[in-house]
Amino acid sequence: MPILEVKNLKKSFGASRVLEDISLTMEKGEVLVILGSSGSGKTTLLRCLNSLETPDEGSAAVDGEYIFGGPQGPDSGARFKLGLVFQQFNLFPQYTALGNVELAPNMMAKKLPDYRQHRRDILQRNRAKALELLGEVGLADRADFYPHQLSGGQQQRVAIARALALDPQILCFDEPTSALDPELTGEVLRVIRELKTRGRTMIVVTHELEFARGIADRVIFMDGGVIAEQGAPEQVFGNPSNQRTRAFFSSYRR
Ligand SMILES: Nc1ncnc2c1ncn2[C@@H]1O[C@H](COP(=O)(O)OP(=O)(O)O)[C@@H](O)[C@H]1O
Ligand SMILES: [Mg+2]
Repeated sequence: MPILEVKNLKKSFGASRVLEDISLTMEKGEVLVILGSSGSGKTTLLRCLNSLETPDEGSAAVDGEYIFGGPQGPDSGARFKLGLVFQQFNLFPQYTALGNVELAPNMMAKKLPDYRQHRRDILQRNRAKALELLGEVGLADRADFYPHQLSGGQQQRVAIARALALDPQILCFDEPTSALDPELTGEVLRVIRELKTRGRTMIVVTHELEFARGIADRVIFMDGGVIAEQGAPEQVFGNPSNQRTRAFFSSYRR
């Protein structure tokens, strides 16, 4: 069974059709890179998959559980099977790095039937896990720093730790280095590469083509709300069959 199955996803904003008819599947452990010019619908696709937008039509299921479009309506838990790292980090400014990472697990824990009884243990466990995640992104020593005390690259690494906190089955990145100064992109790309070596299933929207080619198991090229081309990185990067894909690459290589 594929880990992700998207069927006939459509999304409009008013009269503007942003996703025309998107279908795709992913296997566990796969890294899918999505390329495409600005306005081609990449962010909207990720936002639909992460339940931040309501699609008009179609369905998506993770590990067989519907995120939307299922016969029984949305499964409220399935949306936590995906995590999203935003272009602009979107950390909560009033919380420390640690606070940002442990926030979602602590909120989820409150729904547990035995929460009041085991509150201390649960919070302690969530804190330990959050510190471990900060360690994994190389920020163990910044746990008590607030976002404004961190560089952009550090903020984005906190955002990655936060996205991992609910242990999503698929981690999505929306241009994770686009808001960073060039000298800070490396530390973020390194963390994403490291996640791949540990077998994380990921969808990565990026304009860092060299990085994309290195990390992708499969590449999708989006154009005007449709998947114009998809295939192995060697094929899409090396010998694109679609005219728009070729134009996209040549605009970068000029
Ligand atoms: N909330 C919104 N309301 C209206 N139009 C939107 C909204 N979000 C995105 N769009 C439009 O949808 C199109 C695709 O946007 P987006 O998904 O952000 O593309 P990309 O991430 O590939 O640049 C753009 O034309 C954009 O203006
Ligand atoms: Mg975008």
